[in-house]
Amino acid sequence: MSSSVLESPVSDEVDQLIAAEQRAFLKRQPRSTELIAAAREHLAGGATSNWQIADPQAVWMSHGAGSKVYDVDGNEYVDMHGGYGASIAGHAHPAIVAAVSDQVRRGTHFAQPTEDAIWNAGELARRFGLPLWRFANSGTEATMDAVHLARALTGRDLIIKVEGCYHGHHDSVQVSVLPEADEIGPRDHPTGVPGNSGIPAAIRDLVVVVPFNDPEAVARALAEHRDQVAAMITEPVMMNAGIIKPDDGYLAAIRDLLHQAGAYLIFDEVKTGFTTGPGGVTVLTGVVPDMVCLAKALGGGISVAAIGGTTEVMSAIGDGRYEQVGTFNGNPLAMAATRATLSEVLTGDGYRHLDELGARLRSALDGVIATHGFEWHVVTIGAKGCVTFRADPVREFRDFLQIDARYGNLHWLMQHNGGVFLPPWGKVEQWLLSVQHGRDDVDRFVSNFARLAAATAHATTGAAAVGD
Ligand SMILES: Cc1ncc(COP(=O)(O)O)c(C=O)c1O
Repeated sequence: MSSSVLESPVSDEVDQLIAAEQRAFLKRQPRSTELIAAAREHLAGGATSNWQIADPQAVWMSHGAGSKVYDVDGNEYVDMHGGYGASIAGHAHPAIVAAVSDQVRRGTHFAQPTEDAIWNAGELARRFGLPLWRFANSGTEATMDAVHLARALTGRDLIIKVEGCYHGHHDSVQVSVLPEADEIGPRDHPTGVPGNSGIPAAIRDLVVVVPFNDPEAVARALAEHRDQVAAMITEPVMMNAGIIKPDDGYLAAIRDLLHQAGAYLIFDEVKTGFTTGPGGVTVLTGVVPDMVCLAKALGGGISVAAIGGTTEVMSAIGDGRYEQVGTFNGNPLAMAATRATLSEVLTGDGYRHLDELGARLRSALDGVIATHGFEWHVVTIGAKGCVTFRADPVREFRDFLQIDARYGNLHWLMQHNGGVFLPPWGKVEQWLLSVQHGRDDVDRFVSNFARLAAATAHATTGAAAVGD
């Protein structure tokens, strides 16, 4: 294809393909439709999180085993949704089943520490190069603690945040998460856009928004708010806008700028922490920040989070200047699951397997794209990857906004109807492989992708759209 497929005059046929796939999707899931109707009586919106709802409807699950999940209609899927990046162990991994079952029999909650917490903190210190750790229950809690800590230590209120990063749903970071193109303002002074309703303007005004991959923007923000910035929080590889990697030297440059200004650097490795490698982007780049936030894959499918930091930062917890608390922090069930995940799942062998599968998937997808001459490209890092439906690399959120979202949506639907479960927000999210995935699993993904490529090429040459 010569120019971008997105500019094709017949690209309305992509809308017809989406409609056809949505009809097929609904036809496969009558029991989900019934459960949604029943759920609406007492579950707000008929689901347990707004992110579980996507057009044409939420998928209600029955169970998972190994690399597969099964919906209530009996459909089997290769799970590459990975529970929004948590399920790197796959489902019902024997090591995690054993650890959790054993702990359930011995009690799941005391609100007092148990020995596994010592082993887990030591292992995280070894992996991430940060000496002191605390546990929490979700990524949101971890980034909230990190921001609080930075403010407590510096006595400053402002934080710098990257446009298009998501750090959870607490107020301080709910700014410019996924803003629309007409809201974002000029690139050199992006407008802080509330990421949800219910975010007070006063809180929004404590956030200075900058583009990713631009150290000069960080320098400018620090100069314009001299002695007022407590910290900058960022995903070191952006993973809530497809996948956007940092330029060489970017992370080290912003760390230096922040330190010169007496401010801290927080890496939100909630998504990247174990999916990109055993010590996340921190180890991949060698840039150790002042604080690292972890969650998702850490617990192998059980809810847990962690925050790690330098001795200087974490001393504020040790001496009580900042109270890091939570009824379920470090609960024995989460600690047992975390220990099993770190010691038996996320091992050298586990990562070798993930790398081999990731390479197989990537090269097959590159092959499909080359066959059709599409101006699309594949971005991978560790167990994560996505197809970016445009030719140029995406370096920041404003590039990402230019991608036609329909292709990601159609891809999600075609994978779904072809037995591969992906996160519903097509262009925003990525796939995740697990240690229990095999070659057949990635090959199923590739054949669905080939169907997408063929149908899209067909549509853009003006031929009739496929029916359901
Ligand atoms: C980078 C990042 N940080 C934080 C969070 C929040 O984690 P949780 O949903 O566990 O609160 C997410 C969730 O998707 C995330 O992607």
